[in-house]
Amino acid sequence: MIVLHGTENIIYCSGSLNAAEEYFSLFKKTETQVFILTDQNVYRDCYDKLIKECPSLSDVHVIILEAGEKNKDFKSVSLIIESLQRYGADRTAVLINFGGGMICDTGGFAASVYKRGIRFVNIPTTLLAMVDAAIGGKTGINFGDVKNVIGTFTHPEKIIIDIRFLETLPGRQLRSGVAEMIKHALLLGGNEWNVIKELLHSGRKINENDIRTSADFKNAVVSEDFHEQNKRYILNFGHTIGHAFESFSIKNDPIPLLHGEAIAAGMVAEIFLSSKIFSFPEEKAREITEQIADYFHDIKLSAGDNDLSEFLVSDKKNKNQRIGFSLLSDIGNPKKIFFPEKDDIISAIRFSLNIFSRR
Ligand SMILES: NC(=O)c1ccc[n+]([C@@H]2O[C@H](COP(=O)([O-])OP(=O)(O)OC[C@H]3O[C@@H](n4cnc5c(N)ncnc54)[C@H](O)[C@@H]3O)[C@@H](O)[C@H]2O)c1
Repeated sequence: MIVLHGTENIIYCSGSLNAAEEYFSLFKKTETQVFILTDQNVYRDCYDKLIKECPSLSDVHVIILEAGEKNKDFKSVSLIIESLQRYGADRTAVLINFGGGMICDTGGFAASVYKRGIRFVNIPTTLLAMVDAAIGGKTGINFGDVKNVIGTFTHPEKIIIDIRFLETLPGRQLRSGVAEMIKHALLLGGNEWNVIKELLHSGRKINENDIRTSADFKNAVVSEDFHEQNKRYILNFGHTIGHAFESFSIKNDPIPLLHGEAIAAGMVAEIFLSSKIFSFPEEKAREITEQIADYFHDIKLSAGDNDLSEFLVSDKKNKNQRIGFSLLSDIGNPKKIFFPEKDDIISAIRFSLNIFSRR
């Protein structure tokens, strides 16, 4: 069981953005230049809500990117930097990343390198970004076919979470965020897995409490190990194979997997690996696999058994060409491992491929 620490850098907005407005009004008082970065969809569906409750932001420059993972790239970073330069942003400027993980990661990266770093704030508008991407200060973009290969560790100054932004989020995107909540519950242990199981089964709406538990957990892990020297590594559970599924899909599928969908398939593979290597209890492994497979029943993986190796060998977590994993010996008991046994990895990939029928 992991003990949670303070979460003072997150403002949870329960039904009103008043606390956020109070914070933004300080920028106005200090004549700080403020920029909002967003994507087309978030601009269309959420911008008016933000401005209505945060009038301090009504006259700031807005930079709008095309939506989608394929825009998490250098071109978008150039666009952001060009806009910051055009409007004369100095080193005291603040960039507000208003959107999902794509916007938080790309905007965070641009802010962290512009003039050697300006402040940024994340206002996540997807579930995935609320419980994960907006928190923890990993910024970055994709390069070539590899995800997040360029980036920095830079904390946002504040993270402002308002569940009401999820009202316009498409259902498939919402479900993608649930994958990271499942991951946090499996890492956290205690009663959290039961709470998530109930959420998956009942089809009830995600509430603020669900988001808080998951976001606070991520924040607590990161506050103990910002640069991923040790404990933060656990957050990679499901992500070694998951990122490989995602990268393969982005490269090959006409409608690529969403991040959370790939992580769901990655968790199924890595639970299998956890049973094999760390004797993760079989009964629980079966239950978790069934729950994830049911909830993500329409995911289809198009990769073959041997298609993922090029992505696995370029994973950032590798050490001396040995592929790194964060696995579990039980719910709430993460274990780190680097190992070269290709056969074990292929068996785990095959297991997940069998669960999520091929396209
Ligand atoms: N930095 C980290 O620690 C971290 C952690 C997990 C994931 N990530 C990254 O996050 C990214 C995925 O983030 P995501 O799932 O939020 O995807 P995303 O940012 O691409 O958003 C998904 C889609 O939803 C739309 N959208 C967002 N909010 C909306 C709203 N409220 N209403 C209507 N439409 C809305 C967006 O325009 C987009 O089309 C990946 O690049 C992943 O690598 C980063």
